[in-house]
Amino acid sequence: MEKDQVAEQIARLRKEVEYHNHRYYVLADPVITDKAFDELLKELERLEEVHPEFADPNSPTKRVGGDITKNFPVVRHRYPMLSLSNSYSPQDVADFVGRVEKAVGRVRYTMELKYDGVAISLFYRNGALERAVTRGDGEQGEEVTANIRTVRAIPLLLQGEGHPTEMEVRGEVIFNLKTFHALNEQRLKEGEEPYANPRNTAAGTLKLQDSAEVARRNLDNYIYGMQAEQLPSRSHYANIMACAAWGFRTPDPQRRFIAQADDLEGIMAFIDHWDTHRHALEIITDGVVVKVDDLDVQDELGLTAKSPRWAIAYKFQPEQAVTDLLGVTFQVGRTGAVTPVAELKPVHLAGTTVKRASLFNADQLERLDLHAGDRVRVEKAGEIIPQVVGVEKGDRHHGAQRIHFPHDCPECGTALIRLEGEAQHYCPNEHHCPPQITRRIEHFVARRAMDIEGLGGETVEEFFQAGLIRDVADLYDLTVERILALGKGWKEKSAQKIRDGLEASRTVPFERVLFALGIRHVGETVAKKIARAAGSMHRLMHMSREELTGIDEVGEVIAESITDFFRVPGNRTIVERLERAGLRMEGEAGQAPVSDRLKGLSFVVSGVFRNFDRDGLKEAIERNGGKVSGSISKKTSYVVAGADMGPAKREKAEALGVPIIDEDTFAAMIA
Ligand code: IVH
Repeated sequence: MEKDQVAEQIARLRKEVEYHNHRYYVLADPVITDKAFDELLKELERLEEVHPEFADPNSPTKRVGGDITKNFPVVRHRYPMLSLSNSYSPQDVADFVGRVEKAVGRVRYTMELKYDGVAISLFYRNGALERAVTRGDGEQGEEVTANIRTVRAIPLLLQGEGHPTEMEVRGEVIFNLKTFHALNEQRLKEGEEPYANPRNTAAGTLKLQDSAEVARRNLDNYIYGMQAEQLPSRSHYANIMACAAWGFRTPDPQRRFIAQADDLEGIMAFIDHWDTHRHALEIITDGVVVKVDDLDVQDELGLTAKSPRWAIAYKFQPEQAVTDLLGVTFQVGRTGAVTPVAELKPVHLAGTTVKRASLFNADQLERLDLHAGDRVRVEKAGEIIPQVVGVEKGDRHHGAQRIHFPHDCPECGTALIRLEGEAQHYCPNEHHCPPQITRRIEHFVARRAMDIEGLGGETVEEFFQAGLIRDVADLYDLTVERILALGKGWKEKSAQKIRDGLEASRTVPFERVLFALGIRHVGETVAKKIARAAGSMHRLMHMSREELTGIDEVGEVIAESITDFFRVPGNRTIVERLERAGLRMEGEAGQAPVSDRLKGLSFVVSGVFRNFDRDGLKEAIERNGGKVSGSISKKTSYVVAGADMGPAKREKAEALGVPIIDEDTFAAMIA
């Protein structure tokens, strides 16, 4: 085939795949079978593989992610991203309409749901997605294009005709409820804490470095506006409908996700409708946005300091219910954190039955002043997580006992401690408190950690109860015979599966071994950074607080948690036993030192660089034998300064006479 024929065929296939993607994900109305779709996609993948010269980041084959984003560049918005002024009462809405009418007379309004997620700006040139930027401070945000490409409700190539050559479409990236619940179920299965709030989780997901993980999370999107030199219409509503025709997910007028009104009455009817019906929706909405529809009138009304005069957000009152407090239980987690939980007489609230509600910590318990037998008010925070927000004090029985946070661990009786500056109480008996042990082991075997097949929460509990395992190192002493000796329906095949899973875990990279240890505050991302900076477990065990805080994203709290962990002899023994069991205790060879040119020198890194990302720069220091520290002191040999290094750091360096060098000078030092 001729080159331009191939190019044409690839382009055609991409359009076709995107078309079916839109029919499936956005319209929920596919016109071909899954199998036929897979075949198209495979054909496209095959052609792209044979002709890498036609690679394109906007190919639908890239929807599964794979790109790693080290840092998200800051980008200035062409048109600032404004925010809305909030209102909480019908009177506020009436006042808004009054203000508009006084200024410009009677106008038409468009009402939409207020989606509870994170704002995104999508820039298209010639019908192809070029850049996706978060709202940030409204003036500039962070570029997250690789992650946004995995969101299937966002077209990579626009459908149909008539779109401006350059245009910016704005919308909200959200989790729909089903996806969010599925994500949490998965996390629970893997022994991880469920996410509390879909909005924060969506924001966190957009900032993940691994776009393949973003793809797995199935984010969704709704469009609420657009900007261009030449807009298709001077009606906001018509522009949204134009976006629908180009393949975006937009609010459906049939379902009354968007509607128009000419007066306050019509606006309030929309608000009332959604105040009662919103709980049945598959998405979370925390209010309604009312906008003057005519863009010329919008311009005439203009802006106040932060928000437009032509729009207002009406926020729903979170629904509340009153129910009986049956008791308070105190749950001990993997890290020993003790969480009070209100056990409630089941009550219907905002679409679900609520039986329990977190009370978070001792301070919250204190603030609520709970007494046995109280009637409590519950509300859903972020419309999802039930929370006790108050007590009906008038209903309290005379002489009811106040509920206190325990002094001792409810599971093992050890006196609880509370670290300075932290809200949580901890049981310090980490090696003998049963739920801490089992949850730690569950965390260790979870998919994101050591990923040991055949071992889940129940099996861990069973092995622990039977005395087979007391810590994570014991796992590697399990044998098929010892498992079979448990009886209880254990079969050779499932026992062997566990053994194989344990064998296979020896190839799990060092960063995940580190994460699997379950050191307090050392999550997946931090574990990666630490693994990269330290290079080996041995080195990490001997790193000083200063060296630890030199690692990106490691502050005082994490540094202290790490040093505390390795100070405990029991933990050191476990690490040694894991090493003997053959687990990886070192990073890849690529992390090995390359020189000792910087031996004896200590660096502080500050600002943004042209040729290095911050991590890369720190890695370069360490791989050449230098040390990185988080704060400038007399011992600092050099400060490597990038653009916009903080003035406080500069002053300190100058006061202490520490030389400040730029990245080129640094590069010359290691060349
Ligand atoms: S319009 C100037 N419409 O709410 C108006 N915003 O505080 C620009 N939001 O940052 C926003 N649903 O992230 C608009 N239907 C909707 C919305 C919506 C959610 C978010 C958006 C914005 C914030 C405004």
